Amino acid sequence: MVLGMRGHTAASARSAGRAHILATGCAELGVGLRTELSSGHAQWMAQVAGAATETGAMGGFFLQRIGAYVDLHSEAILPKGYWARLVDLGTEDAKEVEEALNRDGIPMPPPPEWPEVPVATAPGTVHTRFGVIGDPHVGSAKGDSFFLPTIEAINDHAVDFTVSVGDLTQNGREDFFQQVRAGLEKLDAPWTVTLGNHDMWGGGTPAAVGLERFRRVFGAEPCQEFRSERVRLIVLNSADPRESPFPPFDLLTGTFTTDPKESIPGGTFSAEVASWAAEREYEDIPTFIVLHHPPYPYLGFPALVFGLDEASTRVLEELVLRVRAWGVIVGHTHRCALTHLAGAPVLEVPCPKEWPFGFGVVEVSDEGWAYNLHPAGSEELITRASFTANAVFRRYARGPDEARAFSTAVPH
Ligand SMILES: [Fe+2]
Ligand SMILES: [Fe+2]
Repeated sequence: MVLGMRGHTAASARSAGRAHILATGCAELGVGLRTELSSGHAQWMAQVAGAATETGAMGGFFLQRIGAYVDLHSEAILPKGYWARLVDLGTEDAKEVEEALNRDGIPMPPPPEWPEVPVATAPGTVHTRFGVIGDPHVGSAKGDSFFLPTIEAINDHAVDFTVSVGDLTQNGREDFFQQVRAGLEKLDAPWTVTLGNHDMWGGGTPAAVGLERFRRVFGAEPCQEFRSERVRLIVLNSADPRESPFPPFDLLTGTFTTDPKESIPGGTFSAEVASWAAEREYEDIPTFIVLHHPPYPYLGFPALVFGLDEASTRVLEELVLRVRAWGVIVGHTHRCALTHLAGAPVLEVPCPKEWPFGFGVVEVSDEGWAYNLHPAGSEELITRASFTANAVFRRYARGPDEARAFSTAVPH
């Protein structure tokens, strides 16, 4: 449907055939389809791919790569004949996309831009301000170039404290954790952190060492309550220590990489985290919940398995209701987004190293709160980095204006 709307008529017919193969395969395996989720996922794909006039050959490229993701991940599950047919049809898509790119060329990234929106203001008198750093990914080239500028920019905002929402490191290496700690120690105010999926494997270690390294380096638990005088954060660890059954998938090449398998990208609460969450009580103080993964169903790439699992989302939902959380703040998706869970706003905070290269500041009063995204570095740094952000990625990361400038009265 999405392909058809974009004018890829033949690919659209092939895609219907591919969906039929998958549906038959699932039915034979006794796996039920959740059709109520497919329209949300299709809407997301259509929004990111854009019309041919908006993203050129890049939009078709993105849709084909999402298809390649399905092919590679379903090989072990589908009967051989089905999988071969799926791949045959998919190969045609890959050819078509390559021809279009050869014919039209790879579109130039759009000029550098900051997605400016009017500043959102909290109702009432603000008594607390805190910084939110999305996934820093220290240990990656771009992560390193944005980390310290982000710290400096947060200091300029004179916040009361700062939280970083996991994926602190690119791959959980101990020296990267140390680098994160050294950077955060440059903050003028207190700070806290939790774990993300990228932190769980130590860059080729035979087992998950993230939790142990986190404890050693930060001397703290990734699951804790953090308080300032007038705000309470409940910080949860949703990073899953299990090894991914698949190697990392490279969206650019549409193939599995030869990098070591790391933690599965989706999030889950361990039994300990779930029971710790169940012990949190309501207190008469503005309370925010912070974790790495967005709640289920996460319908962005790749559908469903990238966010917090369904059972953990129920735990989160109960927690939101029990403590009457004012908001839930997450990272992981490297995009700006705003959804709701049990009546509380859920904000996805983008990571400083990806377009639009920002970090969040939350302002809290007795009557409500506001969130604004701010540039994570100098104009020069952002301008330079913007050349790595193509039109499709910007459509993915931009989100609606209220996901970058948001305010609300107390939600409960
Ligand atoms: Fe992540
Ligand atoms: Fe991340």
